[in-house]
Amino acid sequence: MIAEKMKGMVANSSAIRAMFEEGNRLAKIYGRENVYDFSLGNPNVAAPAAVKKAIIELLEEEDPVVLHGYSSNSGYEEVKQAVADSLNERFGTSFAAKNIIMTVGAAGGLNVILKTLLNPGDEVIVFAPYFGEYRSYTNNYDGVLVEISPNTETFQPKLDEFEQKITAKTKAVIVNTPNNPTGVVYSEDTIKKLAAIMEVKQKEFGTDIYLISDEPYRELAYDGVEVPYLTKYYANTVVGYSYSKSLSLPGERIGYLVIPDEVADSKDVIAAAIVANRILGFVNAPTLQQKMVAKCLNEKTDISYYDRNRETLYNGLKECGFNCIKPEGAFYLFVKSPFENEKQFCEMAKKYNLLIVPGSSFGCPGYVRLAYCVAYEIIVNSLPKFKELAEEIGVI
Ligand SMILES: Cc1ncc(COP(=O)(O)O)c(C=O)c1O
Repeated sequence: MIAEKMKGMVANSSAIRAMFEEGNRLAKIYGRENVYDFSLGNPNVAAPAAVKKAIIELLEEEDPVVLHGYSSNSGYEEVKQAVADSLNERFGTSFAAKNIIMTVGAAGGLNVILKTLLNPGDEVIVFAPYFGEYRSYTNNYDGVLVEISPNTETFQPKLDEFEQKITAKTKAVIVNTPNNPTGVVYSEDTIKKLAAIMEVKQKEFGTDIYLISDEPYRELAYDGVEVPYLTKYYANTVVGYSYSKSLSLPGERIGYLVIPDEVADSKDVIAAAIVANRILGFVNAPTLQQKMVAKCLNEKTDISYYDRNRETLYNGLKECGFNCIKPEGAFYLFVKSPFENEKQFCEMAKKYNLLIVPGSSFGCPGYVRLAYCVAYEIIVNSLPKFKELAEEIGVI
């Protein structure tokens, strides 16, 4: 018999993954090119050539026993130093190697920091719409997820509600910008206000409230939009980064946490996070990938590809009569469902082989998410289908 806690998890198992499976099923029947699968945030731009080159060099030049051996639980010292140096150069921070912990992607990093911080019953605040896995990760450590309702005008966080929902039990606040699922980038003004609220509340309750910046999409920002680096605005900030999207390496499972000295009880938090990385079973981040990223810190994915998809899909859907906010980052478009029950809308879309994900998976019913990290041809060929769907519903 499986654990009680897992029964709920299995029952609520990800709608996104289910959609992905549905895509495979439809592809077998209609052919892959006739299925317009916007369900999964799996980058379709190849990793930069430098990634392959770095891996080959490592395989040819390094001692294989060392290369494929365990590293220390927090990662290789020289890799952490290289990551810290690169961040300091880009953001004017002053991190040292000891502030970096190499992780198994952002998902691994989030689990490590939540295990490090949470006692049962501690509250973790998230802003809807949010990456649905935050609920599972918080639940892993018997934390309680507290949602702030969405501001569907701008999709910036609703700060008045945030202020009211912080309690003596609030241990962490997760922000994700550029955002999955909206593509919105939180403005500097928003970040300053959010930080000011948290400062006041820490004093009011005499507690430490950690801001966790989950930023796998940091490098995917369009039109030169600035993505503020949050440690500069609020001392008690931990950053979770990933190369899954920035270097198109989601299967390689590599990222890092930054735990600055300014964080409350920094030494303890770092020590506990290193142990958490070990005892969660990660042991250490993949060693070949650690060494590879250290060689590729200045590499970038080709975001012009996503940008073209963004423009074409956004303009095409608007022309069909759908309503959505123009994304400034990531590779998602959040579209208002023409009727309240967006799951019904997703079902209707399926008739046209259009696979889209209900907003309720992100704590925001009434909307749907489209991941546009797909071939450009899929976008172009999907637009007549969206038009037919719009005509059936009568939004045109
Ligand atoms: C907001 C957000 N956080 C974390 C993750 C997990 O990313 P990783 O592959 O680095 O574990 C994702 C993946 O899609 C994401 O969208």
